[in-house]
Amino acid sequence: MVEYPEGATPLDPDEMEGLKFPHVETRIELDQLEQQNIQDGLKWLSRQRSYNKLLNEGFLLELHQKLFGAVWDWAGKYRRTGKNIGVGPVNISTEVRNLLDDAKYWIDHQAYSREEFAARLHHRLVQIHPFSNGNGRHARVFTDAVLEYQLSQKPVNWSTDESINDETHRQNYIKALRTADDGDYQLMIDFISRK
Ligand SMILES: Nc1ncnc2c1ncn2[C@@H]1O[C@H](COP(=O)(O)OP(=O)(O)O)[C@@H](O)[C@H]1O
Ligand SMILES: [Mg+2]
Repeated sequence: MVEYPEGATPLDPDEMEGLKFPHVETRIELDQLEQQNIQDGLKWLSRQRSYNKLLNEGFLLELHQKLFGAVWDWAGKYRRTGKNIGVGPVNISTEVRNLLDDAKYWIDHQAYSREEFAARLHHRLVQIHPFSNGNGRHARVFTDAVLEYQLSQKPVNWSTDESINDETHRQNYIKALRTADDGDYQLMIDFISRK
């Protein structure tokens, strides 16, 4: 029986079938495979030459594919099943495109500080929960890519994914997201602002 950290999405059994390594048995083995895949995905991201199309549905999907596609069949594709978190599967594409349009508007109109921009972009993306899994990791990388490469701003110190698994740190992160679910972004902004 696999255990998940608080706030992590359990996989449906049929989604587990999308695992490209049939012999993986433990969470630790799976984590290692995913970690390697993510490293390769980050290298791909840093090699991109044109960063002016990051707020684009195709790029958002491709990024998930590059981060998780060596491990999971369904990487880079929107989920087809309902989750206890996230919008209904038929609404994902529209919601993602609305968010990306809003983010472009926020940038064009300098609507928010760096911290609030990152808080709103990141929170809404994980709240939509476009993918079967990897939503948190994808949305952290995506938010940082927009900040760093598109806006030439400092990426968020989410801490590496090692320490986001640290219990208290992760609890703070999840608590900030839950407060943002109710429309209050302050904890999220604080989390992003901290050193
Ligand atoms: N209440 C919430 N509101 C918004 N996002 C949430 C909430 N709870 C959890 N999340 C997000 O969902 C992520 C877990 O989803 P999951 O697809 O399993 O991502 P990952 O596999 O990268 O951890 C968390 O890391 C967090 O970003
Ligand atoms: Mg997960």
